[in-house]
Amino acid sequence: MKPVSSIVFYYFSGTGNSRNVVSWFEEVAHRHQVAVVVHDIARQPLPPPAPDDLVVICSPVHGFNYPPLVLGFLRRFPRGKNPVMLMNTRAGMLIGRWVTPGLSGVAFLWAALMLWLKGYTIRGMHPVDMPSNWISVHPGLNQRTVKYLHEVNKTRVTRLAEKIVAGRTDFKALRELVQDLLVAPIALAYYFIGRFVIAKTYYASSDCDLCGLCMKNCPAGAIRLVDGRPFWTFHCESCMRCMSYCPKKAVETAHGLVGVVVLAYSALTTLLFDTLVASWWPGIPEVVIFVAEWSLFALLMATGYRLLHFALRWKPVERLILVSSLTWYRFWGRRYRALRN
Ligand SMILES: Cc1cc2nc3c(=O)[nH]c(=O)nc-3n(C[C@H](O)[C@H](O)[C@H](O)COP(=O)(O)O)c2cc1C
Repeated sequence: MKPVSSIVFYYFSGTGNSRNVVSWFEEVAHRHQVAVVVHDIARQPLPPPAPDDLVVICSPVHGFNYPPLVLGFLRRFPRGKNPVMLMNTRAGMLIGRWVTPGLSGVAFLWAALMLWLKGYTIRGMHPVDMPSNWISVHPGLNQRTVKYLHEVNKTRVTRLAEKIVAGRTDFKALRELVQDLLVAPIALAYYFIGRFVIAKTYYASSDCDLCGLCMKNCPAGAIRLVDGRPFWTFHCESCMRCMSYCPKKAVETAHGLVGVVVLAYSALTTLLFDTLVASWWPGIPEVVIFVAEWSLFALLMATGYRLLHFALRWKPVERLILVSSLTWYRFWGRRYRALRN
């Protein structure tokens, strides 16, 4: 295949990993005098690619798929015949000198199918295991790990970019096809329910001085001011930008709320599904129970979140919510931001 002459990058990035990958790739393109245009997917509307462009799409993986914002972008993407290189950044960690890989799930497969149906040719699918930014579910990585992962990945992306710019293909992602397909049901559950539940775990503590940065910088426009305090709506993509860039470190994850909701949910499902439904509709299909139970969980989270938002005005209650938030503790809550190149 002939070398690439122009590239258009479309990227989405919550905390900077995917943006870094694009700029490492861009450096190689510049070195080879390849014309480059870069677009942030969060800033719609975006111009379509020119006829000869190689299209490179890069975004984090959220819940074993591309984030809904990126999937929406791909759905609206015009038809075309360009070659496309799909990339994602995932939750990399470090054990000794081994960079543990994240899981792409259906991200590549789903995106490739959508673009192929629109006439595009897939030229590659390549994951990059950057430092995980999901500090709602695990303690923040230390700076040494972050630095090491950046160095390793910069070398890997540079090598990959050299290959792609020379006109070759790279389908490294397909080596993980089996585990990616195995987690497909979780990707579905995350898309339809999980992300709405997670959107309702963020709150601002009384350290918040209403500077408005979280609302202004939210790529999904998902944070509003309600009763004089930031409030996370269901549009939240959980990209972690608000939590990572808050100058007061005031954005937290309400793990305590999740605990209370799980308890309420267990009690209600026992009552509703095990007792009532079993006697009223004994042969109820598993899928109906699954959807109903998850919807109940999302409803309880939304209601609990409203109550939490209201109750934060009382100092002792706020204190209780804070001590039940793992992100508030120093051992856990190290915020993550990708290093600048
Ligand atoms: C809500 C959420 C869901 C995530 N889901 C996954 C996942 O399914 N698989 C994975 O490997 N990493 C997952 N991660 C980790 C991110 O994809 C990873 O840290 C990424 O590099 C962040 O990129 P960014 O800085 O460009 O936003 C998730 C992170 C968040 C915040």
